[in-house]
Amino acid sequence: MKKIIIDVDTGIDDAIGLLLAAKSGQADILGFTTVNGNTSLEQATINTAKIVKLLGRDDIKVVQGASRPLMREPHFEVSVHGNDGIGGALKEMEVEIKDEGFAPDFIIEQAELHKGELTIVLLAPLTNMALAIRKEPRLKEWVKELVIMGGAVDHPGNITPTAEYNMYIDPEAAKIVLHAGIPITLVGLDVTSQTLLTVADIEKMRPSEISEFVKDSTNHYMNRYMELTGKRACSMHDPLAVGVALDKSLVRTEKLYVDVETNSDLCDGQTVCDFKNWTKKEPNVDVCLEVDSERFISTLIDTLSK
Ligand code: BDR
Ligand code: CA
Repeated sequence: MKKIIIDVDTGIDDAIGLLLAAKSGQADILGFTTVNGNTSLEQATINTAKIVKLLGRDDIKVVQGASRPLMREPHFEVSVHGNDGIGGALKEMEVEIKDEGFAPDFIIEQAELHKGELTIVLLAPLTNMALAIRKEPRLKEWVKELVIMGGAVDHPGNITPTAEYNMYIDPEAAKIVLHAGIPITLVGLDVTSQTLLTVADIEKMRPSEISEFVKDSTNHYMNRYMELTGKRACSMHDPLAVGVALDKSLVRTEKLYVDVETNSDLCDGQTVCDFKNWTKKEPNVDVCLEVDSERFISTLIDTLSK
């Protein structure tokens, strides 16, 4: 089983990603780390703890990380994820938040403990991972791989004309992570925007507390998607990154040089991919360019129905 840590700003699609990882039976989950992003650090931590409770997995640690990006102000994504980050689902559930330390330190500690074995799945702004890399340069030797939901290499942005949300919120952190020398698979909007969950898909799920959660939480997200596109569905950005971490055959990747813009009013957070190798720089990222969305969505439905 793959040893994994999942870093989240839970978030409707983050929550579904966590459910997928836990129900897959293919992941030895060392912990969930939280960061500000879609919602505040505090709310992301509460939401993550609720998912752990929903799963009945109180063995999974929830470790809090950064409450703000490295150099910029937080920017919560209320229009997609609602005021509480999970579209009002699990409102009545109460959770206890334990002090499990600081997420970047937890990442370092687990990477040292499981040298060469640890996959870190990053579903949020990259602040926690960047802080860990700055503190412990040996992560480059210790971490097996990073699977990042972020960026848009040949696709418009979803928060500015050119930037994807996770890259836009903390581009300085993204730069540190992209250049850290750790193997990276980038699961960007190019592929995640093709993996749509529909009401018909949700209806195929075995009725359970989990299917109720998926239905309740995605209602808000689907309303927003409807406003933007006229279609009632929602993109499974973060679940696809979890899916790719567990099964690389879902995507076709190319090894390319990718950097992120940090110094432009118009283009901050844009991922720039050197498809033609103009820069002559060593490729640093396996970029996902195609996806078998149908297989992914049916695996997601089957796994959440287990
Ligand atoms: C990413 O931004 C967040 O709103 C989602 O949770 C996902 O991680 C998609 O751009
Ligand atoms: Ca997210």
